[in-house]
Amino acid sequence: MKYQEFYQKSIENPEQFWANQAEAINWFKAPETILSYDHNNYPVWYKDAELNACYLAVDKHIEDGFGEQTAIIYDSPVTQTVKKYTYNQIKSEIAKLAGGLQSLGLEKGDTVVIYMPMIPQAVFAMLACARIGVTHSVVFGGFAPHELAIRIDDCKPKAIITASSGIEIERLIAYKPLVDEAIELAEHKPQNVVILNRKLGARIPFKKYDIDYDALVYGSEEASCVPVNGQHPLYVLYTSGTTGKPKGIVRDTAGYVTALKFSMKYIYGVNEGEVFWAASDVGWVVGHSYIAYGPLLNRNTTVVFEGKPIRTPDASTFWRVISEHRVSVMFTAPTAIRAIKKEDPNGEFIKQYDLSCLRTQFLAGERCDISTLEWYRSHIPVPAIDHWWQTESGWPMICNMMGVEYLPIKPGSAGKSVSGYNIQILGENGQELGPNEEGYVVIKLPLPPGTLTGLWNDEMRFKMGYLNKFEGYYFSGDGGFKDEDGYIYITGRVDDVINVAGHRLSTAEMEEIVSSHHSVAECAVIGINDELKGQIPLALVVTKSGEDIEHFQLQHEIVQLVREQIGAVASLKDVVIVQRLPKTRSGKILRKLLRSIADGENFQIPSTIDDEAIIDEVTEVLKHDKIGCFKS
Ligand code: COA
Ligand code: AMP
Repeated sequence: MKYQEFYQKSIENPEQFWANQAEAINWFKAPETILSYDHNNYPVWYKDAELNACYLAVDKHIEDGFGEQTAIIYDSPVTQTVKKYTYNQIKSEIAKLAGGLQSLGLEKGDTVVIYMPMIPQAVFAMLACARIGVTHSVVFGGFAPHELAIRIDDCKPKAIITASSGIEIERLIAYKPLVDEAIELAEHKPQNVVILNRKLGARIPFKKYDIDYDALVYGSEEASCVPVNGQHPLYVLYTSGTTGKPKGIVRDTAGYVTALKFSMKYIYGVNEGEVFWAASDVGWVVGHSYIAYGPLLNRNTTVVFEGKPIRTPDASTFWRVISEHRVSVMFTAPTAIRAIKKEDPNGEFIKQYDLSCLRTQFLAGERCDISTLEWYRSHIPVPAIDHWWQTESGWPMICNMMGVEYLPIKPGSAGKSVSGYNIQILGENGQELGPNEEGYVVIKLPLPPGTLTGLWNDEMRFKMGYLNKFEGYYFSGDGGFKDEDGYIYITGRVDDVINVAGHRLSTAEMEEIVSSHHSVAECAVIGINDELKGQIPLALVVTKSGEDIEHFQLQHEIVQLVREQIGAVASLKDVVIVQRLPKTRSGKILRKLLRSIADGENFQIPSTIDDEAIIDEVTEVLKHDKIGCFKS
């Protein structure tokens, strides 16, 4: 069946379409109600199903006779390790870890925070929770204790599972002191911290609540899979919003496994048994959907890669991994390709590896600029597919569906709407816009299975943030347009969320931290264009009158504050001091205007501006400090 027909079926009769897809799942109890609606008229999929995600990702394949197939390849250039685990092996470790968690008193309905580097045990921990009906919340290892504490207080875990350290380029990051600090900062106190000692030399301060991971696994009986109801929250994953407080995206179990299984076949075009590699981190949604659950549900071999595209040890790493492990389909962020391109512009490393196994390269996480796409295409002869989605959706919303029909690529566009997503472009008043008119990217309800079921303990924020802006539609937070052929172009966020090297961060949160500095009277943090990372934050601050602080000192202190509170991933490096910030007459900071000045884009001076002269003042400062478009 061709794309258009397939897509149309999903929109015209979603219930029938997703009833068909549900047949690919080995339910404990098959759903009788496919689609229903909650009190917000928001879709609920497979409400009365019973299943277990760990069973589907692991045990089922063993029952089907594939126990000796490799499930996980752990490739870690930073520890110079390559280790393979079969489905039989992961089942044994996951089931024992699950048994161990039960012995600590964890049961269906509890939550666990997982704060781990890119090691197989991170995936084991997720699946062990799923096995016993415990909802996990993985926190990206690059987040500082303060961020971890916010998440602990929000989802109130009974236990935290962590490891002794992560490794950044030439740097060991001891995790345990960070976890201890987060627990001290948090009001909620987890009962236990299960810690895997990687024996890499990191300091592991001992606390009464500590449990050794290895001892727990080896001393426990295997737990069996606990059936959960279709709506049971498999995980909560926090993502940045427009306030300082991250949002806990809640994922159900039944809709998610069905959507992921569907996506592996129809979007990624990957067959069972093949090697699939998403070079991301378990702390992000890509890691949840396409390092852990998606490939394992589809009986693929998944690669857990602990390294970076460059400097681990060089820009050949990606090609080595693809070639050595015979990867069929790969997924990464454009920023990773930009980093490789910078180090190896002529693709000399690429020529050294046999990449004949690679069928498709997927790119997502941020806008894919045309020159990066072209560079990739000129060096590697496989389709390079940009695709668009977000933590909330859990799986792609715009894509060239490679398992259905390979449509011509239009560089700059992420492709057409994926089955199940009725994507439209609306104007300010909710009117549908015509071809090539830029507006808000929205999805007409019902959303398909697998997307967020809400925000953890915050129904009001869920409704306000996603459902209330345009009645009957889910608001994505992105802007874009659709051309006459139905190809969609995403132009960027319309809110204060920025995307730094594929990491989603909130400028509002950074502003809170910057303004907590004792010399700062007021500030604005904006995302400006960056050649490597797509966007980076820039802080513009007005100092308190009478403050006598050198620019470099203030910059250093603010950068440190942000690193301590959010983490180094925030990548705030530039702080400029301005006399005043441009504002509307009602006192709202004109952040969009600031962005346009820093990026050297044409802009119209808003009629509501309080004092136009500030534009020249700010421009002069950015020029003087060589920031953004004034760099060279
Ligand atoms: N734990 C602790 N610190 C971390 C971390 C982690 N898990 N991940 C990143 N950091 C730190 C880095 O060490 C760095 O610290 P520094 O400022 O002291 O050098 C800082 O956070 C920024 O890291 P990063 O964004 O990785 O930038 P980089 O300059 O080290 O590397 C790239 C640049 C492009 C190679 C890198 O950003 C990259 O690989 N990007 C792809 C990201 C990706 O796959 N995202 C997927 C989302 S789908
Ligand atoms: P996250 O929730 O971290 O996955 O970030 C989602 C956001 O990243 C989206 O709302 C977009 O702003 C951006 N994004 C992701 N993929 C793409 C893409 N292919 N093109 C443009 N923007 C993207």
